[in-house]
Amino acid sequence: MATYFVETLNAKGEKSPENSGSTSLSTTGKILIGVTGGIALGLSVVCASFVSPAFRRVCLPYIPATEQQVLNVFNALKTKHRHGLLIDLGSGDGRIVFEAAKHNFQPHGVELNTWLVAYSKLSAFLNRAANPTVAFYQKDLWKFPLGAYDNVVIFGVEQMMHELEAKLHRECKPGCHIVACRFPLPGMKPEITVGSGVDTVWLYKIPNKIS
Ligand SMILES: C[S@@+](CC[C@H](N)C(=O)[O-])C[C@H]1O[C@@H](n2cnc3c(N)ncnc32)[C@H](O)[C@@H]1O
Repeated sequence: MATYFVETLNAKGEKSPENSGSTSLSTTGKILIGVTGGIALGLSVVCASFVSPAFRRVCLPYIPATEQQVLNVFNALKTKHRHGLLIDLGSGDGRIVFEAAKHNFQPHGVELNTWLVAYSKLSAFLNRAANPTVAFYQKDLWKFPLGAYDNVVIFGVEQMMHELEAKLHRECKPGCHIVACRFPLPGMKPEITVGSGVDTVWLYKIPNKIS
């Protein structure tokens, strides 16, 4: 129920004592509105980074890889004795990149979400002795050049795999290995498949160019 304060003035035009509390209440109210407004704005700014993928041409939401998926990625790479530069496309909180550092790759992550990149960079800095070659880039994966990489990891969505496959063929060097998690590349034959169900990963090799 709404409460109304009616200010009455005495003969000299001053506020009567019983109404003097209304001024301090409205100041408290203004502070509360300011604080809650600030919190709401802050939350909206943070959430916007996580919701914005839904409005992009390809919606690739933040779904971190499970322990089993991470394990399958590195088991797949291990079977082919892979090493060298590795990029995780859409690196989230950096878990695949940090795991790659443990397996002696030179791992990079590219990620659009400001907060996830900041979190990954902070984690890398706090644990820099274990991650000397780790790097994170806040970029759009579709515009990120892949020519330098020996290994590419993608935990994608089905709608993007066809277009991604074209980018991989255009940019990756011969012999580069691709690990796709959860959704396979539609036009390539995997060298090996590891795991099952949602944890399945497929390992592909970019063939030598036919001259
Ligand atoms: C399915 S999650 C995978 C996260 C991480 N690779 C993992 O396995 O835990 C996909 C990530 O891609 C990011 N992403 C979506 N669109 C992107 C884009 N165009 N460029 C770079 N990153 C993008 C999302 O913010 C999200 O963190």
